[in-house]
Amino acid sequence: MTGNMVFDATRPVDDRYSPPPLGELEELAAALAEGRLSGGAPDLPHYEAELAGWFGTRRALAVNSGTSALHAALVALDVHPGAEVLVPATAPIVTAMPILTCGATPVIVDTTPGALAMDPADVQTKLTRRTKAAISLPLWGYPADDTAAAAILAAAGVPLIEDACQAHGTQVRGRYTGTLHRAGCFSTHDRKLLATGEGGFILTDDEELADRIDFYTHLGHLRGHVHGVNYKLAGPLAAIGRCRLRYLNTQLRIRREHAHTLLAVLPAGGPLTELPYGDGDQPNYYNLVLTAPPHQAPAIAAALANAGLPPDSRRYDYQPLYHRPIFTRQATSCPNAEALTAATFQLPVHPALSEATIGWVADRLRDLAERQAT
Ligand SMILES: Cc1ncc(COP(=O)(O)O)c(C=O)c1O
Repeated sequence: MTGNMVFDATRPVDDRYSPPPLGELEELAAALAEGRLSGGAPDLPHYEAELAGWFGTRRALAVNSGTSALHAALVALDVHPGAEVLVPATAPIVTAMPILTCGATPVIVDTTPGALAMDPADVQTKLTRRTKAAISLPLWGYPADDTAAAAILAAAGVPLIEDACQAHGTQVRGRYTGTLHRAGCFSTHDRKLLATGEGGFILTDDEELADRIDFYTHLGHLRGHVHGVNYKLAGPLAAIGRCRLRYLNTQLRIRREHAHTLLAVLPAGGPLTELPYGDGDQPNYYNLVLTAPPHQAPAIAAALANAGLPPDSRRYDYQPLYHRPIFTRQATSCPNAEALTAATFQLPVHPALSEATIGWVADRLRDLAERQAT
């Protein structure tokens, strides 16, 4: 089922992944025949149970986007106007916007050198009486081992949630990202490993928190006791999610194989290495992420962009959160995050890339590493 994209060396490598047909049409036909297409459709509880089963959590709550998942989790943790939420400087704006939606203030913390974990010393410094939550971010599906920050936050009674929107199947110390802390928030937008078009879900083992999220995202179940919003996922999207969840393990395996093929061409001692992660950790390869010494990074970014493989710094103008106009008031010194954002290169390794495409990318990487080494 791999390699369904035709390779064309004159076009950039397509980083948008569409899975092969996985029985969605049949499931959608069944959903249409049943008649209920809303968030009250019978597929919803099945989808939620299957998500909880796949990840091994007590509860999974389907919602209509990753943004909704983050917002609902923050609201359920009592992040109210005037509260503060710690977020790493590596966060894209989509991670931090739900904090603004709560009327709260993002407090930006640096990461540890060369990694995505929050710097525990910076977390300690930036905790205040107003800190109501913190967000761990396994960006690009790479592990963010926030064990040290979590201990500091736990001592202060501050819940940690995960923005695992890109990290379906990523593991930290042998456990799935999104199940490591109080709640895990996922997106199922088209670009994600589990794609339903738009959509998302929240995982938690905390039944009380799950119930609060459930009531909030379902307009308080119209009982009039608590305030809520309509963040329900539509039935047909849950039906698609159910089909595609069954393929997630296969997809993870193929992404890892592609990543290992590319990593194998990098010369030992050369300028390009994989973004490091710990023993027992495992990226899901949403992207393969390479890194290089700071003085070589600009030339490598330019060469990759010229080859049709633009890194996020070129393609999305990816840079620390406080460089974005709506977050400049939260600017703070984050040298580690500055270095990481400037010297990381993201490459697609999704299952639809053919052997020829992966081979072509491998050739570009080998050339580039050899040229930069001399
Ligand atoms: C890291 C991260 N957080 C949050 C989101 C928001 O998810 P959604 O687009 O489903 O609202 C995304 C999706 O792009 C993401 O990649």
